[in-house]
Amino acid sequence: MRRKLAAGNWKMNGLKANLSEIEALATAHPAPGSDILLCPPATLIAPMAQAASGTALAIGGQDCHAAASGAHTGDIAAAMLADAGASHVILGHSERRADHDEHNEDVRAKANAALAAGLTCVICVGESEAQRDASNTLDIIGGQLSGSIPDGVTGHSLVVAYEPIWAIGTGRTPTLEQIGEVHDFIRMRLERRFGTGVGRSTRLLYGGSVKPGNAAEIFAVSNVDGALVGGASLKAADFSAIITALEAAPPQG
Ligand code: 13P
Repeated sequence: MRRKLAAGNWKMNGLKANLSEIEALATAHPAPGSDILLCPPATLIAPMAQAASGTALAIGGQDCHAAASGAHTGDIAAAMLADAGASHVILGHSERRADHDEHNEDVRAKANAALAAGLTCVICVGESEAQRDASNTLDIIGGQLSGSIPDGVTGHSLVVAYEPIWAIGTGRTPTLEQIGEVHDFIRMRLERRFGTGVGRSTRLLYGGSVKPGNAAEIFAVSNVDGALVGGASLKAADFSAIITALEAAPPQG
């Protein structure tokens, strides 16, 4: 059985005053039946890791540079994330692919840097609305998987998040059948490339307008091992309700 994972992506939101959400979350889930990960902006990684120390909450970054160090003003190396207390890093989020022109090969290089620093990579894939309308979803996802995920990953060091771009921050979600189709496809592709050991142990998250009200039905879909939650992860009460729904969902794996 795969252990479930509830991950929150705070994106470019959060000040020190918001660290109280972490304390509320840790108090609400002292011994969770799932893994819980929060990825704040870089400025909050160290204080959030400190606030989460001694709790079950893991902390992650939202991006890293592909190089180990050097003349890259404004960028952050994977080892710096680990040094600040992160155990995970989100890579290839569609907002970074769009805002920073990141392509699959960039994501793969960053993932290699993250693996070298001992971080678990949460690699994001997802189609645009136009791509879905043109029935290209699985082709796009397949290309993103083979281009973005490096060789040498394990079920521990890789998490894949399926985030349809048109579902992010819109309140719209794919049908449960559409989510299941993509997650089954990702599982099949991982098994084919990495073998059944890695393929079956890698957690697959769904992301895009996950809320307390729709979480339970999404978590019942085959091969959905958790969620990557944006807006609803900012408030402990909402994220906590999503975690509770995840823990009540049927086991997967
Ligand atoms: P929302 O949950 O706000 O739609 O964001 C999803 C997301 O992009 C998480 O990485």
